[in-house]
Amino acid sequence: MSIALSINNLEKTYATGTKALKGVSFDVQAGELFALLGANGAGKTTLIGILTGLVQKTGGSATVFGIDLDKEPEKVRSMIGVVPQEFNFSIFEKVLDIVVDAAGYYGIPRSEATPRAEQILKDLGLFEKRNAISRTLSGGMKRRLLIARALVHQPKLLLLDEPSAGVDVELRREMWEFVTKLNASGTTIILTTHYLEEAERLCKNVVLIKEGVVAEQGNIQELMAKTGAQTLEDFYLHVNKRV
Ligand SMILES: Nc1ncnc2c1ncn2[C@@H]1O[C@H](COP(=O)(O)OP(=O)(O)OP(=O)(O)O)[C@@H](O)[C@H]1O
Ligand SMILES: [Mg+2]
Repeated sequence: MSIALSINNLEKTYATGTKALKGVSFDVQAGELFALLGANGAGKTTLIGILTGLVQKTGGSATVFGIDLDKEPEKVRSMIGVVPQEFNFSIFEKVLDIVVDAAGYYGIPRSEATPRAEQILKDLGLFEKRNAISRTLSGGMKRRLLIARALVHQPKLLLLDEPSAGVDVELRREMWEFVTKLNASGTTIILTTHYLEEAERLCKNVVLIKEGVVAEQGNIQELMAKTGAQTLEDFYLHVNKRV
C-alpha cells in the first residue's frame, strides 16, 4: 500500500518561543480515514498549517504521496484540500463564487469549475444557497461551504480541522456519511476532532498528540484493548492524564 502522508521529526517553534511541535513523526496510508487527536493547543492546527504552507516549519520533513514538501510545495498543495478550523472565506461573496474561485487558484477554468462546484454543493445540501451571500449562512452551512471549497480541485488528501464544530446532530450524521463516502471513493482523509465518538466511529488509526509530541499512535481498537478502555474517549483521558 502506498503512503499518503509521511511526517518525519516535524518541529515548529513560533517566534513567540512556543514549541508547538517537538519532533512529530507518523505515516498515513493511502485510502485511510485517519484521526489526528489532541487537547486544545496540542499542535494539530500547526501541523495542518505546515502542510498547507500557512506555517513555516522549523525542523523535520514531510512528503505527500511521495512528494517532498520542501522540494515541490506547490505540487504538494495541489494534492491537499483543507477545511480550516476558522471560517476564512469572504463574507460578502456568493456561495457558488467562493467554491469556483477556489478552483481558479489551482488553474481550473471557470467553465469546468462551475458544474463541479454545483455538484459538490448539491452533495453537501447547499445547492439552494448557491446564490446567497456567505454571510447569510448559518454556522453549520458555513462549515459545509468550507468542505465544498476544499474539494473543488479534487484533492487526494483532505485535511479536516474540526469540521463538525457547531454542526447540529442531524447534520453531523450527514457529514459523517458524506466523509465516509468520499473516503470510500478513494480520498485519503485526516480528521481532527474533539468529538471522540466521531473519531472512534469513522477512523481506523489514530495519532494522539500531546504538547507537541506523539503520545500514542496505532489502531484505535487495539489501543483501546491494550488499556482496557471501553471507548476512545476513555483511552484519550487515560493518555492525557498520564505524566
Ligand atoms: N501564530 C502563532 N503564534 C504563536 N503561537 C502559536 C500560533 N499559533 C499557534 N500557537 C501556539 O502553538 C500551540 C499549538 O497550537 P495549535 O493551534 O496548533 O493547537 P491545536 O492542537 O490545533 O489546538 P485546538 O484543539 O485548540 O485547535 C499553542 O500553544 C498555541 O498557542
Ligand atoms: Mg486547532
